[in-house]
Amino acid sequence: MKYSAAPLNHSEIVNYLKKKSIYDIKNEILLGLTAPSKYISSKYFYDEVGSKLFEQITRLPEYYPTVTEKKILKNLVFQLDFDFSNADIVELGSGDASKISLILKQLPDEVLAKMSYYPVDISSSAIQESMTDLSRAFRLKNMTGLVLDFNTQLHLIPQKSRRLYLFLGSTIGNFDESERHRFLNNLYHEMQPGDHLLLGLDRVKEQSVLENAYNDSEGITARFNKNILRVANRLVDANFRPDDFEHKAFFRSDKNRIEMHLIAKRDRQILLGINYQIKLKQGESIHTENSHKFTENDIENISKSSQLKIKQIFSDDKKWFSIVLFEKASIKP
Ligand SMILES: C[S@@+](CC[C@H](N)C(=O)[O-])C[C@H]1O[C@@H](n2cnc3c(N)ncnc32)[C@H](O)[C@@H]1O
Repeated sequence: MKYSAAPLNHSEIVNYLKKKSIYDIKNEILLGLTAPSKYISSKYFYDEVGSKLFEQITRLPEYYPTVTEKKILKNLVFQLDFDFSNADIVELGSGDASKISLILKQLPDEVLAKMSYYPVDISSSAIQESMTDLSRAFRLKNMTGLVLDFNTQLHLIPQKSRRLYLFLGSTIGNFDESERHRFLNNLYHEMQPGDHLLLGLDRVKEQSVLENAYNDSEGITARFNKNILRVANRLVDANFRPDDFEHKAFFRSDKNRIEMHLIAKRDRQILLGINYQIKLKQGESIHTENSHKFTENDIENISKSSQLKIKQIFSDDKKWFSIVLFEKASIKP
């Protein structure tokens, strides 16, 4: 990291989640837990504990996506067909911001001094900690952290200069096809002609490699998965006992995705506040995450459905991970 004693010109955090009603959040969780096939949206993994556990996952030897994507990012700037001068960066689902650091390190100080960086994440603790780290390491013109839900609040991201959007870590794989389409459509409408998107995509590969990445020997992914029940306890006043559930992650080749579930070890009756209760039979599942894996064909389809033009594709030698540069053209392709 480049260490600079000079302070940022401007740094702030705006929390738009506070404006989302707790009633909507409760409703979303209750809807999933009372559905015939129970689920909790993966966005609820990321409280302070969940964000820390995810950082630990990214350092596990089995979890190849982070190390592979970082290897590509390390030398990317010089190959990238994007002019960083007078451009701003918006990073969606920025997490610990270790990936933006790899990009900023490759840019000259004069470019950084004119650049605004907007980390966007649902986790306020991740935004706070990453901004502290980044402001020690880089002298940017402005850094504004935005705590918001990128599914519904993209329009709250301020629009100033030409921009590069980053959506890394294959976070887009957490959407199913219709959610992905809706998200990309929303993003397309927020982008101005000439804006770019750098998208990280985990590729379809051997089943054992995929399944090992979500079933690590230290049990960190299991802890991450079970933590969602603690979040649900807090948000809907439920009484889940995480240890009554088993972590299960497997590849579904019919859908090209890893699914994560929590399986009840015994029959359980769960209170959801004072008004609701649900019954879970032994072996019954709560579906907590999808992580879709992508083919070359999928990359073409993402371009077609989002109307964003593919400019460059960067992959590692084994084609385990790809980073794709898209552009919003002036005229729709
Ligand atoms: C798979 S992690 C990737 C983190 C980081 N980009 C990386 O590549 O290591 C997903 C990130 O997106 C954030 N996130 C998940 N759902 C979100 C949502 N609906 N709105 C905003 N951020 C979200 C999480 O807090 C987390 O930091």
